[in-house]
Amino acid sequence: MGIEATVYMVRVSFNQKPFRKTIMQLYDGKVYPSPSTNTEVGKQVLEETPDHPGSLGIAISEAVEDALTDDKVKYTLGSVLNHVILHQTVIGQEIQKQLEIAEEEPDTMIACVGGGSNFGGSMFPMLKEKIKGNTDCEFLAVEPSACPTLTQGKYEYDYGDNMGFTPLLKMFTLGHDFVAPSVHAGGLRYHGMNTQVSLLTKEGYITPKTVSQSEVFEAGKLFAQSEGVIPAPETNHAIKAAIDVARECKKTGEEKTIVVNFSGHGLMDFKGYESYLNGTMEDC
Ligand SMILES: Cc1ncc(COP(=O)(O)O)c(C=O)c1O
Repeated sequence: MGIEATVYMVRVSFNQKPFRKTIMQLYDGKVYPSPSTNTEVGKQVLEETPDHPGSLGIAISEAVEDALTDDKVKYTLGSVLNHVILHQTVIGQEIQKQLEIAEEEPDTMIACVGGGSNFGGSMFPMLKEKIKGNTDCEFLAVEPSACPTLTQGKYEYDYGDNMGFTPLLKMFTLGHDFVAPSVHAGGLRYHGMNTQVSLLTKEGYITPKTVSQSEVFEAGKLFAQSEGVIPAPETNHAIKAAIDVARECKKTGEEKTIVVNFSGHGLMDFKGYESYLNGTMEDC
């Protein structure tokens, strides 16, 4: 394709999800576990902590360092920033069309949150209606208890990366040097949050919720057995929250239309499912 891709993959994900690396290599991507010895950032981190598990913040710093030191290198970020959400709002618009066809009004809409892009992309078109006062729909943003950015972070200016190369962003943050425990939902182990998702949470339009790793995998197993599709550990966070809402309805007798954003399949995540099944999974 004429583009050479270098990927800094958080070391723990590099080890937990080896086949994601294989896919990128299949397309000639060069994949390095981060922290790596390619960059000054990586070397500095490894000097202090040789067995560092890595973090999305450190991986971003390594990629930005590459872009800052080589004119030919361009850096792209797959989440957190508003333009990524804008791109993904095609999903939210499609959900609205599907609801229209099904003649349903949603009562609860749910997505998991890492950097905020799958949540924002799937929810913002409908959230606009809530801001305009056209719907009472509840919007649940589900995060791991191991990385509770929206529920326990501070709402303040912080960097999007570990070293502070990015501009400051006003967001919920656990601190740019936060290293989340090595839970299998690698995509949700980010210290910060998209600025719009943060603001809408602060203003009460979005309700944040945390769930623990083992209950999330239990939800994934139930979903796989019920629907025949194995979800990603990240997606299981949203599914767990949806099961909770549905079970509450069962108790109260209330009827609700629940929409869940299915952010990805779990066919690269069998190490996580394996540790859930053999009882070695830990909650943080
Ligand atoms: C399957 C899956 N779902 C959700 C996410 C969460 O990301 P975000 O909140 O940035 O959309 C990720 C991130 O890698 C992911 O891999």
